[in-house]
Amino acid sequence: MRHITLCRHFCLSMIFHDIFHTCLSHGAGVIPNNLNGAVGGSVFFTTTVTPPEKPFLVVAWSFNSGSGDRNVITSTTSDVIGPGYENRITLDRSTGFLELRNLTMNDTGEYSTVVTPDGGELMSGACRLEIFISAASITEPPVTPVEGKPVNLTCDAAGPFFTREWRKDGSPVSPGSNIILHDNNRVLSFSPLKRTDSGEYSCTVSNPASSAEAKYKMTVNYGPENVKITGPNEIKVKQTLTLICFAESTPTATYIWMKNGAESHTNSAEFTKSQVELSDGGEYTCQAGNNITGRTVISDVHRLSVQGKKETLSAGAIAGITIACLLVVVAAVLGAKYYLRRKGK
Ligand SMILES: *[C@@H]1O[C@H](CO)[C@@H](O)[C@H](O)[C@H]1NC(C)=O
Ligand SMILES: *[C@@H]1O[C@H](CO)[C@@H](O)[C@H](O)[C@H]1NC(C)=O
Ligand SMILES: *[C@@H]1O[C@H](CO)[C@@H](O)[C@H](O)[C@H]1NC(C)=O
Ligand SMILES: *[C@@H]1O[C@H](CO)[C@@H](O)[C@H](O)[C@H]1NC(C)=O
Repeated sequence: MRHITLCRHFCLSMIFHDIFHTCLSHGAGVIPNNLNGAVGGSVFFTTTVTPPEKPFLVVAWSFNSGSGDRNVITSTTSDVIGPGYENRITLDRSTGFLELRNLTMNDTGEYSTVVTPDGGELMSGACRLEIFISAASITEPPVTPVEGKPVNLTCDAAGPFFTREWRKDGSPVSPGSNIILHDNNRVLSFSPLKRTDSGEYSCTVSNPASSAEAKYKMTVNYGPENVKITGPNEIKVKQTLTLICFAESTPTATYIWMKNGAESHTNSAEFTKSQVELSDGGEYTCQAGNNITGRTVISDVHRLSVQGKKETLSAGAIAGITIACLLVVVAAVLGAKYYLRRKGK
């Protein structure tokens, strides 16, 4: 099973945007209120603290995802870094600014800081970080889509998203006689598939701050159907014969030609023969095959009659023509001699 993933430029631009995004403070508080990040990206928590004359005694950051406060970093004369934050954070001790890198979905939650000045009031603040949707993916059907059979397309992404939208060739997919959306739009079900369901499908997952999209091009295989031979029913000896076989089929059909029920070793849509002979007359059929649907269909019989006289000349006729030619030459030579003799006189 192959996953096709696609992340809109949006995801990337969010990363860069958010590094410089300021989680602004209210009033005299130290920080922020809300910050957005993307999986794999970075965020920068800024404060409204002005660098003090004497270094702060303590700068501490903690994280709460709903199950209690955990230390991110507590910086006094030395730094105590919480598990999972090694190599992921950088703290500016003079301002309390904190950079958090390599974001995962698990980083969603409340970040709070407490700054203890050397002789002054404690300052504190909190900022909520939301990590949005990871790249979306559409899971291809485990079997090649074939008309008449059922198929599911499944759209997945990680994140606190609220909606999924399916589009086909850019227009919203609406449930219909053979199309059902299951599982909160996660699964797009075709039962049975129609050939008109072929197209480019996209699934967009979004929440108020972010979105991600995945695409899948579906080709519905069908046929062969309506296998027909076109070409002449009558032809003269020595002419060129061209018969064409056509079948409606996806993928393009393969063809086998038969004459009077026997295979002719022609495996293309076109059957040609230059210098047709009387023996080429007969009943032609073509068998169209589709190696995905596994179906083969034989055309109606196409009758061909070849007309013409025997072209070979008898020995007597050849002798007659030869003698006639000789006589013409002799007459010409005699005529020329007579003319020259008269002119000479
Ligand atoms: C993110 O993590 C990967 C591997 O886990 C590492 O190679 C990469 O350097 C990290 N990036 C940052 C910005 O820390
Ligand atoms: C996120 O947390 C879950 C449960 O605690 C854990 O299984 C998973 O590995 C974590 N994912 C990352 C990317 O850290
Ligand atoms: C498609 O998904 C629906 C709902 O999850 C399920 O009932 C059905 O069996 C699936 N069909 C196929 C062909 O996988
Ligand atoms: C089906 O036939 C086409 C040629 O018409 C060939 O390229 C393809 O490999 C075949 N596929 C299978 C599964 O046999």
